[in-house]
Amino acid sequence: MDRIAFITGGSGGIGKDVCRKLSQNGFAVAVGYNNGKQAACDLADELVAGGGKAVAVKCDVTDMTSVNAAKLVIERELGRVDTLVNNAGISSYKLFCDETEETVRNTVNVDLLGAMLVCRAFYPDMVAGKFGRIINVASIWGICGASMEVVYSAAKAGLIGFGKALALELAPSGITVNTVSPGFIDTPMNADFSKSERQSILDEIPSCRFGTGDDVASAILFLSGIDASYVTGQNIVVSGGYKNV
Ligand code: NAI
Repeated sequence: MDRIAFITGGSGGIGKDVCRKLSQNGFAVAVGYNNGKQAACDLADELVAGGGKAVAVKCDVTDMTSVNAAKLVIERELGRVDTLVNNAGISSYKLFCDETEETVRNTVNVDLLGAMLVCRAFYPDMVAGKFGRIINVASIWGICGASMEVVYSAAKAGLIGFGKALALELAPSGITVNTVSPGFIDTPMNADFSKSERQSILDEIPSCRFGTGDDVASAILFLSGIDASYVTGQNIVVSGGYKNV
């Protein structure tokens, strides 16, 4: 069976490694981007040079018109998506009293509503094909909450709940819906932490290292597999034991 995956925010820190891992394992890969067209095109070229099938596709997950347009491009270039990785996300690191209506809406729009819109566009084809894999990338903060990341934590908690509920609706159609919740992964999203902040986080990680995009990609590869057909509605934490959630 040919496998076709779409990764939103696919040219970001974790997204890149997910695209690479799925491509190395035989998936045709649509690398979604919002900004950063060049990085997405470079990654798609890299995957093709490695013997895979890949395409870079513009997809702003907060905009249904953009999502539907991306779907048409992917169908034309690769075929029907059977594996959807809702990876696009933004963080908002500030006290809740410093959030504005705009910053709250932006975070919820990308981190929660975005995944819903993309699922809404792509899952009917999976139902028609009686097969699909949907993996949402949440966060450990969606489980235990984080000070200074109240809105982000709430959006990710919503994403975990969304996955659990959608899994129940889609299980009879052969579609699994799962969540992967990373801990601290060394990507551009965490670039603003100072050296001392990074060290104090590292001190709390039982595995004694920050996570990598590849750590997250390995969990996503497992959930994408044919063999994971009986795993649905779950949330796999990839955190090296951080916060022990
Ligand atoms: P990143 O900032 O490197 O990548 C995020 C990607 O999402 C970027 O490519 C960005 O352009 C894209 N994006 C942002 N808004 C978008 C929109 N409206 N439409 C489409 N794409 C959009 O961050 P990273 O670390 O790779 O994060 C990936 C996912 O992992 C996010 O959902 C994030 O919340 C989650 N995560 C990351 C953790 C970390 O420690 N880095 C920890 C827990 C979760």
